[in-house]
Parts: sequence; structure tokens; C-alpha cells
Amino acid sequence: MQKIKNICCIGAGYVGGPTMAVIAQKCPDINVTVVDINEQRINSWNDPDFSKIPIYEPGLADVVKDSRDRNLFFSTDVDAAIEKADIIFISVNTPTKTYGIGKGMAADLKWIELCARQIARVSVTDKIVVEKSTLPVRTANALKSILENTGNGVKFQILSNPEFLAEGTAVADLMAPDRVLIGGDVATKEGRTAIQTLVDIYANWVDKDRILTTNVWSSELSKLTANAFLAQRVSSINAMSELCEKTGADVNEVARAIGMDSRIGSKFLKSSVGFGGSCFQKDILNLVYISKSLGLNEVADYWEQVVIMNDHQKNRFAANIVKTLFNTVSGKKITFLGWAFKKDTNDTRESAAIHVADFLLKEHANIVVYDPKVTADQIYKDLDYLEGNDLETIKKLLTVETDPYKACENSHAIAVLTEWDEFKTYNWQSIYDNMLKPASVFDGRNILDLDKLKAIGFNVDGIGKP
Ligand code: NAI
Repeated sequence: MQKIKNICCIGAGYVGGPTMAVIAQKCPDINVTVVDINEQRINSWNDPDFSKIPIYEPGLADVVKDSRDRNLFFSTDVDAAIEKADIIFISVNTPTKTYGIGKGMAADLKWIELCARQIARVSVTDKIVVEKSTLPVRTANALKSILENTGNGVKFQILSNPEFLAEGTAVADLMAPDRVLIGGDVATKEGRTAIQTLVDIYANWVDKDRILTTNVWSSELSKLTANAFLAQRVSSINAMSELCEKTGADVNEVARAIGMDSRIGSKFLKSSVGFGGSCFQKDILNLVYISKSLGLNEVADYWEQVVIMNDHQKNRFAANIVKTLFNTVSGKKITFLGWAFKKDTNDTRESAAIHVADFLLKEHANIVVYDPKVTADQIYKDLDYLEGNDLETIKKLLTVETDPYKACENSHAIAVLTEWDEFKTYNWQSIYDNMLKPASVFDGRNILDLDKLKAIGFNVDGIGKP
């Protein structure tokens, strides 16, 4: 079997960066080069100050520190890295299409195709190309036909190796994954050899019985299925949260009771203002689109409901703030604790906070945001991106604070949008003393001790609480 000396990863994002940093640390004999067309991102990965790498994940800076400039490199020279590589991971973005056929549903594979064409153009030696991005089932066919028609005799093997890490725990997940999934052309000897080559890399730190191999289509579809199932659990418990609020039940109690059933399990049963992140919604919509394209309308409708429920949860959280504050928030100061889509990440893509802010800004609220890891720049970018928004007006209504206590001063209400641990340890008495009365807390993550807050004098509102 071919000895792997050089790995290239196209895409230095939330998946490419951490994944390759861990491979480099665990395989010191392999040179790993992560490339990106975004020069600013690459410069940040190379920042001498490791606290400034572009992605915040617990433990990531230390892993990067371990290998950077030894066998882990970040570069904008995509051609050079492709040319040298034995294995190329494609880890570029695959967002929902915003134009043309499949708009708002299908995955936009523009960046994937550009990568394939670049690999085809540059390669002069045989290579294994690995789909790390989440892709619609059967995308490997498209890659294959682009790569096989170069006419220069170079041979490519295409593998699917979807990433199951969760942001916020990316390093821990990569170090000890529940499983690694590798799909390839199991019907040919070359295909099986390529699969084994990738298995051997992971086997440097992952137990062999946690490395699953299968055919490409099962691997591609497993990733979409995993995200659909995870998101479906969140929407299911969120649907019950609304019922709890109307019936006097407590969603945490219900989750505890059903979670002890070993067939259901206790994880991923936390009710909240709704799921966010770059993956769940995009991957489910993609699944819906694929199902519809195949004429499977009932399958499509079933999964689409997960996204519909999530949108409903975000809207009803925002609408409840307006209703509770005497049906108007115009000119009222509302403090957002948290902007990231979950704790321990600076990723804000599809964060529930964006949608709640948009809703309240349309009601002319004044919003002050505090998040321990998200910059003001990013917050304004997120809102500017929404259709019909004007950044100048937004900047007059929404400000960003770096001190949480200051953010809460003279405010009418606090909305918890991210479950950062530090929010639990604040001096809530002092926050209450400096707010306007009546002072309200809307806990969109069910992390605060609402009885304690009530005793201080707050009006409190949790998700799925009587
Ligand atoms: P990202 O947006 O953070 O990173 C993608 C990077 O690819 C960007 O920096 C972009 O500049 C770069 N890029 C795009 N086209 C390029 C090209 N032709 N040449 C060089 N660089 C190029 O995206 P993220 O979050 O890392 O996701 C990547 C893929 O992994 C997506 O398909 C996503 O669905 C999947 N995924 C994401 C997870 C997550 O937690 N973020 C988890 C599991 C899978």
C-alpha cells in the first residue's frame, strides 16, 4: 500500500481547521496542508498569537500550537498543496442554494465542483479524494465524472468521510469520535485499498471497531440522516414545550422522565428557543429536496416539519417577549445574553439570536448584545445579511457591549439566547438592582434558576415551564 506523506485539505473552516489539526497531531509523519481562498482566514490561522486563530473551540489553540509549522501548514497556495498531496480532503462550504432551481432547499455545490475542477487541472499523480463536506447522496458520481475526464491519465479514488463533530466540543469529538465513517468503491480492489489507506490514518488514534466502512452512497446518506434525526429530537421536545406551557407540565421533567427510557435516551432532549448552526436546517432542507426530486412527497413533508417547528419556536419566543412587555417593545431596551448558536463556539450561523433580534428590531426595540466570544462586526454582518435590512438603521437600534453587567443596565428585559455557562454565575441581584422595573428574564435555554430569580423580584419566563 502507498505510504501517505502529504495530505491537503481544501477549506480552512470549522471542519477543515480542527479536523486537520488533530490529524497532524496524531500523525506526526504526515505533512498536512490546509488551504483556503480566504486569505484573511489563512492569515488568522497563522497568527503568532494562538488566541487569535479564527475559530474558537475549547482546546483547539493548543492542538494547533502543537503541530503548526512542524507538520501542519495553512496556506492560500491551493495548487501547490493539491499537486503534492496523496490524499485531498474537500471541506468547503455547501450552503443552501439562494438562486435558481432548488432555491431555498437544495445544497449549493458550486464550491465542491470548483474544487473538483481544480484538482483535475492540477494533479499529475494518482490521488485519493475525500468528501469531508456534507453532500447530497450520489455527489461522488459528479466528482468522479469531472475527475475522470481530465485526459491526463491520473487515477482518482473517491471516498466519502463525513464529519460528525459538534461545534463547541469539536476537539474532544475528533480525539474520541463515536465512530468514523468511510465510504468507498467496495466493489473494486483499488476502491478497497483507498478505504484501507484512510482507515490506517484514523487507526493512529481511533479504535478499529469504531471505524466503519461502507459504500459511498450509504456513507453520504448517513450524514444527512444523522443530522435529520438530531434536529428532529430538538423539534420534538420543543413541540412538547409549547404543550407544557399550556397544561402546567414542566418540559424538563417530561424530558427527564422519557430520557430514562433506554429506547429514547437522555441526550439531545433539551428544549430551547430553537436549534441553529450551519448544518441542521441546511441538511434537512437538502434531504427534503432530494426526497421531492425522487417523488417521495410524504418523506419530504415529514422532514420539512422539523424545520417548520423550529421556525415556530423562534417566532413564538420573540412574540412572547412583545406580549409580556405589555404588547409593545418600541423604544424599550432588551438585553441579549448570547449571540452564538450554542455555547463554546464563536459560530453564529443560523443562530436563533439572529431571528429573535430581527423580529424585535421590526417592533422597534432597542437591543444590547453581550456574547463572550462573538465580535460586534460579526453580529452586524449577521443582521445585514437578512433580506430587507438596512445596516445604518440597525446600528442605531442595536449595540454590542463587552461587559455583561453594563449590557443589562437600565434594561426592561433580558433574553438568554445562548447557554454560556458564565450566565449562571452572574450576580443576578446586582443585575436586578440596575434594571428598570418590572424587570423580566426570558430564558431561551432553560439554564437559569428561575425560582431564585423570582425571589429576587424578576418576572421570569422559561421555555416549556408552567
Ligand atoms: P466554513 O464555511 O467554515 O469553511 C469552508 C471554507 O472553505 C471557507 O473558509 C471557504 O473560504 C473555503 N472554500 C470554499 N471554496 C473553496 C475553494 N474552491 N478553494 C479553497 N477554499 C475554499 O464551513 P464548515 O462549517 O467548515 O463546513 C464545511 C463542510 O462541512 C460543509 O459541507 C458542512 O455542512 C460540513 N460540516 C460542518 C460541520 C460544522 O459543525 N460546521 C460539522 C460537520 C460537517
